[in-house]
Formats: sequence, C-alpha cells, structure tokens
Amino acid sequence: MYICLCKRVTCSQIRSAVEGGDACSLRDVSQQLGVGTQCGKCGKCARNLIEEALTAPIADQVQPQFA
Ligand code: FES
Repeated sequence: MYICLCKRVTCSQIRSAVEGGDACSLRDVSQQLGVGTQCGKCGKCARNLIEEALTAPIADQVQPQFA
C-alpha cells in the first residue's frame, strides 16, 4: 500500500528501511525515500508506521513462557 503518493513510496519500503537499520525516524525515511517532502500529507501515517516497525521486531522476539 502506498503511504506517500507524491513520491510513490510503499509501507513495505518504509518497513524495510527501518527494520534494515537504515532509518529510525521520519527524518531518516524522508532523506532516503523522499517521504513527506512534497505535500506532507503522509507525514503522520509514515511516522506511525516507523513507530510500529521500530517496536514490532521486539514484540516478535518475545516468546511465551510455559512452565
Ligand atoms: S503524500 Fe507524501 S509528500 Fe505528498
């Protein structure tokens, strides 16, 4: 799904940038992919996605403990 229509950037591109360690903020993603650099309407959605990508890998590593 496109997050930034102006720059044709998808959520998977943003996720890859964050999960690959290349970006950890909207500023990083903007510099790398151009997200939010034209009309700016995608900024809030992109920020939420970055936040989710930063926290999801940690949550995925948590394994349930059964005694
Ligand atoms: S939708 Fe991202 S800059 Fe316009």
